[in-house]
Amino acid sequence: MIIDAALGPADIAKLPEAELSDATSVVFDILRATSSMITGLAHGVAAIHPVRTIEEALRRKAEMPGALLGGERHGDRIEGFDLGNSPFEYREISGREVISTTTNGTIALRACDHAQLVLVGAILNLGAVAEAVRASNPSRVLLVCAGTFDTFALEDAWAAGRLMQLLGEPDCTDAARATLAVAQMYPSPLAGLRAARNGRALTAKGRGAEVEWCARESVFQEIGVLREGVIRLLQTSETFPGSENPATLLQDAG
Ligand code: MLT
Repeated sequence: MIIDAALGPADIAKLPEAELSDATSVVFDILRATSSMITGLAHGVAAIHPVRTIEEALRRKAEMPGALLGGERHGDRIEGFDLGNSPFEYREISGREVISTTTNGTIALRACDHAQLVLVGAILNLGAVAEAVRASNPSRVLLVCAGTFDTFALEDAWAAGRLMQLLGEPDCTDAARATLAVAQMYPSPLAGLRAARNGRALTAKGRGAEVEWCARESVFQEIGVLREGVIRLLQTSETFPGSENPATLLQDAG
């Protein structure tokens, strides 16, 4: 298994053309898109439909009138939408489906949706994601760091590097090794998130509690898997393409 990383929007823009059929992608948008999605799945959300644009979200809503519209621009709820992008809002909507559009996270998810397997990664479920990556036993893992606007985001690299540590620092590219260096630089997730530009911006906006929530490591066992444009809970009984007995590991993790 070799680990590679897409470190931000510039790398992510190349992914739609990239060969990913042999890769397991793990997508991180710690503040806050993937953290909110995992919080939602851990609180009974039925499905999340990540889309790139507000127009696409409204078109999808016309096809699925029962779904909720969620997402943000500049960190704030989009006018006319039911939800913003705070993880706390995703604890209150058990059984619902959400059409989500965010500045970076949903773009990153859709950019690699042709990969062999796409897992939704957060610090909240890092241990379970490590188990699933081990279980899927891929020849290649691509750590996708969503970024903030058009720049690199420290918090996403911290999570990717921490996953590398949990996987025992297997063979990796320099981009992936750079994420490891970030995780080693900030021993606690909260220290990493508070050092990050986005963490400081959210805290300045009075959303410090959300930053603390997203910094809690491996408190959820739920894993989101993106298939045909929809994120649902990975079932422990599922098997992975190309691997022998993943179910055993996941049952232990579940
Ligand atoms: C994003 O996708 O860009 C972020 O999740 C934005 C946010 O939640 O503030």
